[in-house]
Amino acid sequence: MLAKEKVLLQMKDISIEFPGVKALKSVNFTAEGGKVHAVVGANGAGKSTLMKVLSGAYNHYTGQIFIDEKPMHVTSPKAAKEKGIQVVYQEVDTVIVPYLSAAENILLDEIANGMDKKLFINWKSVYKKAEEILKGLNLNISVRKLGEELTLAEKQMVLIARAISSQCKFLILDEPTAPLSNRETGELFKVIRDLKSKNVGIIFISHRLPELFKICDEVTVLRDGEFVTNKEIKALTQNKIVEYMLGKGFEQSFEKRAFVSKENILKLESLRDNGKLKGISLYANKGEILGIAGLVGAGKTELCNAVFGVSNRVNGDIFIKGKRIKIKSPRDAVKNKIALIPEERRKEGILTEESIAVNISSTDISKFSKTLGFFNLKKESEVALDLIKKLQIKATSGNQKAALLSGGNQQKVVVGKWLHTDAEIFIFDEPTKGVDVGAKEDIFKLIRDLAEQGRTVIYASCEMSELLGITDRIYAIYDGKIVKELRTSETNEEELLFYSTGGH
Ligand SMILES: Nc1ncnc2c1ncn2[C@@H]1O[C@H](COP(=O)(O)OP(=O)(O)OP(=O)(O)O)[C@@H](O)[C@H]1O
Ligand SMILES: [Mg+2]
Repeated sequence: MLAKEKVLLQMKDISIEFPGVKALKSVNFTAEGGKVHAVVGANGAGKSTLMKVLSGAYNHYTGQIFIDEKPMHVTSPKAAKEKGIQVVYQEVDTVIVPYLSAAENILLDEIANGMDKKLFINWKSVYKKAEEILKGLNLNISVRKLGEELTLAEKQMVLIARAISSQCKFLILDEPTAPLSNRETGELFKVIRDLKSKNVGIIFISHRLPELFKICDEVTVLRDGEFVTNKEIKALTQNKIVEYMLGKGFEQSFEKRAFVSKENILKLESLRDNGKLKGISLYANKGEILGIAGLVGAGKTELCNAVFGVSNRVNGDIFIKGKRIKIKSPRDAVKNKIALIPEERRKEGILTEESIAVNISSTDISKFSKTLGFFNLKKESEVALDLIKKLQIKATSGNQKAALLSGGNQQKVVVGKWLHTDAEIFIFDEPTKGVDVGAKEDIFKLIRDLAEQGRTVIYASCEMSELLGITDRIYAIYDGKIVKELRTSETNEEELLFYSTGGH
């Protein structure tokens, strides 16, 4: 059910506090039906919080919200939905019910409602209606497919379909493109343009600044919980946006590294993993930052997992310093001084119920223990504080629960906790997802330091510009195979993209 006409949304003087943090300070935000509004800002700036206020997640905010100049008080998700405010959060995995069909997932609220009222549910019509909604979005997803069989992109589309199955005047998308490939992002943008033409107002959060210029009409910038500016995208450049976000000018300054080392540390020979890896052979030297370039689904994660012993279907040989070793589990990998910084923070990277300090020390308990086996709390919090400072993690203290950090700051903890270990081989799988431009630079600096200390770094990413900035040598992979090996100093973005999309 889409908006019949364009609606005006205004948030005025919105403030909200959590213990120890003023997350929003008198923020103003305006959005209109039929337009795409970007909300940008560094990690912890307050973007998600502002959208949570709007979608009824909190009832302790101050300030006012108006729809078409009529005041509206949203204090529950249900109340917000009834006013036509729908939200799709980034963690789509946790919202899709795995054992229900796409159709049931789309019409979940309606079905649950019917069941509550003990109404008879006409399943035939549920499937028909779901099909119509998907057709209306020009999407080709089978409504019978189970939630768990959907790709990440499809899950997101199903949630968008769910959002518009009831009243939808504004659709909030919080970092929707972070896990998507370029092609999937293109599909999402088609859906967004279509909804825009149907008068829905879209609120769009992203750290990928180039894409704002493809899809947005207006940009609102937040910094440290405060409103900085609101401008038409036409009046902005990427550098200007960064300046507003960080409060200072900024140029991504990739230092050129003079890398020479012949000492071989890691060698893989014909690594295979059940069709996902089709015979990968590569090597990495001491002190080298080796890039693995590949698009979403190319096999980067499978490759990282194979070396770390996550998968038990791996064939092929792994050599460390010339010696053939067996890695059957992550424990074996850790014994061989390999660290993996995995891609998905929620699922595997972070203990959300624990403090930042505990998360950071969880990678190397032995280092923090005294001889008698007591946990050295002082040492633990020193290391935590050091990392909080180096990565500018926005937290009240090292004791803050990781769950209360903003998305990007959680990612910084996931990456940061490995940086103090004594591993010799570091594998980073898309470490900068959801991290703001300034923080990326901090992470790159720490990775460069690791290499300077003689550790070997494997950096897997689909962001070609990052690979060019940080690595010494790159393997492009496509469909589970290495298609090309390149010296970073002798290649460019076009060439990397060419090989990563299967060119040869
Ligand atoms: N429930 C909460 N309890 C305590 N602090 C919170 C809570 N929710 C958010 N915060 C804090 O409020 C600030 C703003 O967080 P928010 O999630 O809105 O940032 P964000 O702009 O979305 O950042 P990111 O780009 O990293 O997602 C952060 O300092 C965060 O730690
Ligand atoms: Mg956020």
